[in-house]
This record gives sequence, C-alpha cells and structure tokens, in this order.
Amino acid sequence: MKTKTVYLKNFGCQMNNADAEQLLGVLHRAGYRATDRPEEADLILLNTCAIREKAEQKVFSDLGRLKVFKAKDPGVLIGVLGCVAQAEGKKILAREPAVDFVAGTRGTAEVPEMIRKARAGERSLFLSLEDEFDPGRFRNESIRESRVAALVPIIYGCDNFCSYCVVPYVRGREWSRPAAEILQEVRELAGRGYKEITLIGQNVNSYGKKSKENEDFCGLLHLLHEVNGLERIRFVTSHPKDLSRSVIAAMASLHKICEALHLPVQSGSDRVLRDMNRGYSRSDYLKKVERLREAIPGIALTTDIIVGFPGESEADFEETLSLIREADFDRLFAFRFSPRAGTAAEKLPDPVDEETAGRRLAAVLDLQKEQTLRKHQALVGTTVEVLVEGANPKVSGEWMGRTRANKIVHFGGGRTVPGDLVDVRIEKGLPNCLTGRVVSS
Ligand code: 5AD
Ligand code: SF4
Repeated sequence: MKTKTVYLKNFGCQMNNADAEQLLGVLHRAGYRATDRPEEADLILLNTCAIREKAEQKVFSDLGRLKVFKAKDPGVLIGVLGCVAQAEGKKILAREPAVDFVAGTRGTAEVPEMIRKARAGERSLFLSLEDEFDPGRFRNESIRESRVAALVPIIYGCDNFCSYCVVPYVRGREWSRPAAEILQEVRELAGRGYKEITLIGQNVNSYGKKSKENEDFCGLLHLLHEVNGLERIRFVTSHPKDLSRSVIAAMASLHKICEALHLPVQSGSDRVLRDMNRGYSRSDYLKKVERLREAIPGIALTTDIIVGFPGESEADFEETLSLIREADFDRLFAFRFSPRAGTAAEKLPDPVDEETAGRRLAAVLDLQKEQTLRKHQALVGTTVEVLVEGANPKVSGEWMGRTRANKIVHFGGGRTVPGDLVDVRIEKGLPNCLTGRVVSS
C-alpha cells in the first residue's frame, strides 16, 4: 500500500487534541502519515471548535483557503470533524461541495470508512452521539504529541447545560469510559516511559456517576495512583459544584496528584452565576477555594472567566474582579461572551455592548497579569521539581519542563533527557514562565 499523507488542522480544547491523536493513529493504520504541508496532502482534515463564534467562523475561512488544493488536484479529499461538524454538519455539506465527509465529535473512529466511501465518490455524514458507542476505543493506537505527558480522556459529553455553552449539544450526554479500559491505557503509557497523565473530560468530577458497576472519580484516581512508573496525575476540567470533599482529600493524600487545579468560576456575581445556570454561588466557590488551600499547601488554582454576559452590570463585574483577587488565581483564561445558537443565553435580554465587554476583558487580564507575575517572582530562590519535556525552543542547550503546579520552566545545567524529574532552582519569575538551573539530577 502506497503511503498517503494527511494534513490535520486542530482547533479547541484538550479533548479535541486527544481526538486528533487517536485519529492520527487510526489513519496510520489506514496507510496515512501526517504532514504539516497542506499543499502536499492527499487528505485534508479540520478538527473544529464551536465554543465561541470566532472559532466557528474560522472553519469556513479555512475551508475557503484549503479547497484551493482540491481545485488543483481533484484526488485530494477534505473532511470536517469535531464540534462545528457536529453542530453544522448538514449545512457544511450543502454549502461546501469540496467537502467529502463530515464526522461529529464521536466519529473519529469512523473516518477510514468515510475515506473509503469518498474515494468511491460518495459523500458521507456521521453525527451519532449514541451512548453505547465508545469514542475512545482506539486510544491504544494514538500517535501522541508528547513522549512524556499524555492526555487520557475519561468522560465524554456534558449534562450540565450552562446557559451559555454549546458543549452539551455538540458532545452529547455524559458517557464514562470503563475504568478497566482507562487503567489499561495508563499502564501501557507508563510501560512506554510516560511519566505524567492528564485525565480529561468536560466535567471529570462526574466520572462514573451514571453506572453502579463503574468506579467514581475518586475510585479512579486511587486506581490509577497505583500504576508503576507513573509519576504525576492531573485532571481537567472540574466543575466547582461537583468538586467533592473526597476528591480534595484524594488530592491531599495521593502524592502523584499534582498541586494544580483548573476550576472555572466564570463570574463573581451571584446574579450572573444564576443566569449562567452554574449551580453554585460566589461564596460556595470561595469556600471550596479555602478548603483546597487548607488541604493542599501551595496549590496553583487557575480559572476561566466570561465577561459581558447578558445583563452583567458594572457592579456584577466589580464582583468578578474582587473574586479574582480573593481567590488569588495563578492564571486565568478570559473570554468575551459569545452567543451560541440553541443555548438558553442566546435568548437573554440586555446584551452588553462590545466596547464595555472589551474594556472588562482588558481589566480582567491586567489584574491577572499582576497576580501571575507576583506569584512567579515569589518562587525565585525556591527549588522545584520539574518534569523535563524537551528542548527550550528559544535557547539551544537549555530545557523546558513543568513544575507540579503546572508552571513552565526554562532551565539549563545538569545532564538531563526528556522524561527526567529534576530539581531546579528558580532564578527569575517572568509573566508567562520561570527560569532556573538544575541543582541535582
Ligand atoms: N462565550 C464565551 N466564552 C465561553 N466559554 C464557553 N462558552 C462560551 C461562550 N458562549 C468559555 C468558558 C469555558 C471555556 C472553555 O470557554 O469560560 O470555561
Ligand atoms: Fe471547543 Fe468545546 Fe468542542 Fe472543546 S468541546 S473543541 S472547547 S466546542
């Protein structure tokens, strides 16, 4: 079989990254190798994100650019996958004759069959979100970006229906992978030298809730903690309403679980949180932060913020700023509200004008910049454990890795290779990373 080439452009969150890694594995079996040059590809794939309008528009502009390659060589196939495919699959096929197939968020494993059909001149669409279908069944074939730290999906979909969010519509109902299958994936990764795993899902704390036979999230953490060779466990994303005392206790007692947690708060105003259908109040959230800080000294907390949600007043926004100060986040991701078709918030009155939302976004980012820099500078002079991930792309002979608190460190000194755990003395705290030197290896 002649090797063919695939150009895969990926957008969005870690779940999309994990899907892309599995897809590359499945395509490898079908005789494809990856290329980063679309002009030489036999197959062009877009793995899309629908979380905000901008991300969605990108798909159509990219398709416009990429279909030129098909115009030059009609043998080139084009497929659209992921969240926009799920939401707009029929429309994409109708609007873009150059697209040969569309596969939604649980369709990555179907792609080889869709390619076969496309070669025979048949366009196809796969949009099933059925529960009994295991979207992670070919994980062992994944071609992963890192040889040190691996993404491991544990739960697909989301049942929360936050009023702004498209995810429940494009990724379907929550479905947990069987614990035995996850354990097998993690054992195999550890056997191949992986030191760190990040368990991923739209809401990892809901893991296993729907089935009596399966482990719950805490049980899964205990199970994976026993895997020999594995050094670090992370997980993302946690919903604040579902972060239980038992998970906090597991984080405190299981040493492989890193002292870092991404806990999206979205807003500091009770009124906005209620309209977002988040299921917790400002004080519920801050109590959990306090509990986490008590139980896990040095924990790094990160969050997501949406500004300009419909009806967000200046006073509501001030509450968000004060929560950011109180929670003392290490880092945050902030977004301007983007109305999504079919969600409850799309129909809410009192939109916030663009200029106000833009000003609020800048204020959140400015405040966090100060906090992050202060936290990074406070680490100067301390010695931290770093997992070496690879070469520092900017300075030859130096390395790049992450601390347990998930901070990027650029460092020199010592003889190390990717996958080593080394102690690094921090010399500088910069806005986005730390720098230092190895003190032992
Ligand atoms: N508009 C803006 N931001 C959004 N997010 C999710 N939906 C929207 C939306 N409609 C943000 C949330 C979420 C992160 C992944 O994206 O902050 O936590
Ligand atoms: Fe984007 Fe959400 Fe889909 Fe991830 S799950 S790719 S964030 S829309």
